[in-house]
Amino acid sequence: MATVGALPRPREPAGELAQGSPVTPGRQLRCCTASGCRAGGAGPLIEALRQAQAVADPAANGLVIKSVGCLRLCSRGPLLAWDGPGGPALFALGSTDPGTAPGAAIGPEQARALVLAAATAPGPDTLAALDLEAWRPQALLPEGSPSPGPSPVGVASAPPPSPGGIGLTWDQMDLDHPFFALQQPLVLLHCGWIDPDSIEEALALGTYGQWRRCRSDLSPEAVRAMVHRSGLRGRGGAGYPTGLKWDTVALQPPGPRFVVCNADEGDPGAFMDRSVLEGDPHRLLEGLAIAAFAVGAESGFLYVRAEYPLAIERLRRALKQAHQKGILGPGTGLELELRVGAGAYVCGEETALLQSIQGQRGQPRPRPPYPAQSGLWGAPTLINNVETLAAVPAILRRGAEWFAAIGTDTSKGTKVFSLSGAVRRTGLVEVPMGTSLRTVVETMGGGVPAAHGSPGGGVKAVQTGGPSGGCIPAHLLDTPVDYESLQALGSAMGSGGMVVVGEAMAMPELARHFMHFSVEESCGKCLPCRAGTVQLEQLLDRLLAGLAEPGELDQLEQLCRMVKATSLCGLGQAAPNPVLSALRHFRAEFLAACRAESPRAAFAREPFPAGPALGPLPGGRP
Ligand SMILES: Cc1cc2nc3c(=O)[nH]c(=O)nc-3n(C[C@H](O)[C@H](O)[C@H](O)COP(=O)(O)O)c2cc1C
Ligand code: SF4
Ligand code: FES
Repeated sequence: MATVGALPRPREPAGELAQGSPVTPGRQLRCCTASGCRAGGAGPLIEALRQAQAVADPAANGLVIKSVGCLRLCSRGPLLAWDGPGGPALFALGSTDPGTAPGAAIGPEQARALVLAAATAPGPDTLAALDLEAWRPQALLPEGSPSPGPSPVGVASAPPPSPGGIGLTWDQMDLDHPFFALQQPLVLLHCGWIDPDSIEEALALGTYGQWRRCRSDLSPEAVRAMVHRSGLRGRGGAGYPTGLKWDTVALQPPGPRFVVCNADEGDPGAFMDRSVLEGDPHRLLEGLAIAAFAVGAESGFLYVRAEYPLAIERLRRALKQAHQKGILGPGTGLELELRVGAGAYVCGEETALLQSIQGQRGQPRPRPPYPAQSGLWGAPTLINNVETLAAVPAILRRGAEWFAAIGTDTSKGTKVFSLSGAVRRTGLVEVPMGTSLRTVVETMGGGVPAAHGSPGGGVKAVQTGGPSGGCIPAHLLDTPVDYESLQALGSAMGSGGMVVVGEAMAMPELARHFMHFSVEESCGKCLPCRAGTVQLEQLLDRLLAGLAEPGELDQLEQLCRMVKATSLCGLGQAAPNPVLSALRHFRAEFLAACRAESPRAAFAREPFPAGPALGPLPGGRP
């Protein structure tokens, strides 16, 4: 039995949660149907479970089967959480064929056995002992296999065989594992517990309570003061103090104002915002409504990239429900609209995003004026990131001081990270600011699996901040994750993507990968970024082809600094960061690449000749 992870219960007071509400029935199976688990067949899985319930023993009638957002350990998806005696417990459905989505492969008898076990098991252990193989469709059982084994709990007799099917695995996750135990859900508090398509469940847990409180009991000044005191800083990348930004918008001359939620999330390796949208959209809507109240805006927009179809679907439904309930929309003082962006990375930059909302080409413009002074149609406009806004209801509910007590002196609250790359446990992690990289990557994530060129656990670096950030080498893993510490190392918090790099990865290759991303995504408006990123990529290509002289590294650095200093927007200003940080922490690898006589051949077979941190290079490029 594999034992990795479980999920803490929501820690906020239950609020309006009533006994017997749809959130906490006697027994339920919470099926993660967020994007990660969908890739593992979560959609067909929940369908199969519901169909199985319809034809199963009446004992299964009391079981609630519901769709929820991310349960955190995305790499093991599809995940199912079980609530019942001795629960909650968390299970991963896997398949013996790595190319098959297990959720899509489950047979009707297996689904029925699972539903009956979930409905009748006296405790998690019994459910964990469920042998799905005993109910595997017989057509694909190896020759000479015994006929179906002992009946799963609650199933009176073996079902008739049916054609098709693959081997399924059924593992209980250990909820006491640090991956789960060290999480402090605040933004993700209800994610994984509530059905994101049910406003009733959100209301039952107190969502929109603070929005109501704002309108009945609080002044905009009081709300802004609370956000100030909380120390909340923008989670979109720059870490700008949220209260200060809200004041700037609120204190502009009288006239219309707008609020905008930036849900563009284009950083490679980042999926935190998507998880909020997919798992608890009403929390975000409440945060945006509170922000609008605090700055005096009566209309606003949510800007989501088109590559997030499920997030768009759920957000659209949530908006409709909030309108139908009279929580948002006509008569409530706030009209919100959803806008779908085509997916250009630069459209996450605030001025480009505003252009895009206005129906113009999504290109940045110089600041000042800042959007807070002159944004949509020239009116003061507040732009905040999804996670920033999703933290606001908790600040109002639990108090600014409660929030400010979490984290470090300068970085308050929690931060959601999407942990990916060469790491054993890939998924969503919400931890207090100031948690060390080592805790997240090694203690929670489990380090690098052997398959990534290391005997196991050997982290070479951690990439934070996406194409605007940089790589932090393994010997600095004790760095606390806060805005200033990461910046001091030449990286950035960014929006929360955390990509683990194993020993097998060559840092010049990684730097080139990010530069290529910036070349592709540069909007072309200003010369330093349009041409400079291309030249940087060409220099890196020369280096990787073994054509560069060591002196060219200075040229590389100089060009990096020029592009940083002269580009118009954050994309160009930060595009050289991955190269500069790689040069700073892994210079020996760049020098070694200069010296290699036939590096393309060397990449495929040989380790670089020198440098303690150097491992064999992948033959990743042709
Ligand atoms: C190239 C580029 C892409 C960006 N992408 C995003 C994004 O996807 N989401 C986001 O919230 N902020 C993004 N930002 C930052 C925004 O410009 C802006 O600072 C942020 O939305 C403000 O919200 P916050 O104060 O809550 O962080 C991006 C910035 C740049 C330069
Ligand atoms: S820095 Fe790059 S992305 Fe930004 S305006 Fe200039 S060309 Fe466009
Ligand atoms: S998407 Fe299902 S656990 Fe993250």
